Amino acid sequence: MRSIFITGVSRGLGQALAAALADNDTRIIGLGRSKGDFAGEFHSCDFTKPQLAASILGEALSSEDLENASSIAFIANAGTLGPLAKAQNLDPFDIERAIAANLGGSAISAVSFLKRVENIDRPKLFAQISSGAALPDRAKASWSLYCSCKAGQEQLVRTIAAEQTGAPFPTKFVNINPGVMETAMQEQIRATSPETFPEVARFIKLKEEGRIPSPDTVANKIATLLASHETLENGKTYDLST
Ligand SMILES: NC(=O)c1ccc[n+]([C@@H]2O[C@H](COP(=O)([O-])OP(=O)(O)OC[C@H]3O[C@@H](n4cnc5c(N)ncnc54)[C@H](OP(=O)(O)O)[C@@H]3O)[C@@H](O)[C@H]2O)c1
Repeated sequence: MRSIFITGVSRGLGQALAAALADNDTRIIGLGRSKGDFAGEFHSCDFTKPQLAASILGEALSSEDLENASSIAFIANAGTLGPLAKAQNLDPFDIERAIAANLGGSAISAVSFLKRVENIDRPKLFAQISSGAALPDRAKASWSLYCSCKAGQEQLVRTIAAEQTGAPFPTKFVNINPGVMETAMQEQIRATSPETFPEVARFIKLKEEGRIPSPDTVANKIATLLASHETLENGKTYDLST
């Protein structure tokens, strides 16, 4: 049986992933602040409280019989846009929380996962749910915290991927750019004023034209990608946005 850990299962893509990946041969372990309708093994953790989150992740990982799993995957999906505001209007509390929830959460997840699986000789994968916002040419006004965290998550993955090359029992680290999806994040984007986010009209138009896929559609693409995770390339970013 394969074991898959997913952060942020309460709604949006995480909720859809938990449904898309579920079958009789898969054990899904959910993590996040709240569980929503997720019915499997769930561990409540808030990445804005890093010490506590690391301890909860450590316990969640060590309580699983991963040595006998057919494969082991961790999907770092939890995230937040944080406040969408021009830099001069961000306060230190918002900055701390957004970085902790996004980049900090991914680092804690990766470190906790590696500590647990380092010596396990099974196919192992850490998949970071990234975003086009990580790309240098997609820097968007008022998204400074989100864009910088997504870029940081991608580089975190590439860095650890390099470390894993040559490890006795390497874990593959990949980024997955899911593309836009109709979740709470898109609602927050569309609710931003044009003064704050000049590109907002484009996102509203995407919605009006029915061009934003559901998280279920995207989750099915990710499930297909993960089904052949032996063939995935360590350190690569998989772009599902097109
Ligand atoms: N939606 C898009 O168009 C889009 C595009 C590209 C990439 N992405 C990426 O896709 C991933 C999922 O986004 P989504 O659109 O599904 O967002 P969403 O609907 O807002 O869901 C975010 C999930 O993350 C959890 N979360 C937020 N802050 C947390 C924290 N401090 N600690 C633990 N869990 C926390 C939430 O839990 P609670 O329910 O407890 O709040 C929720 O389960 C993110 O990494 C995002 O960057 C989204």
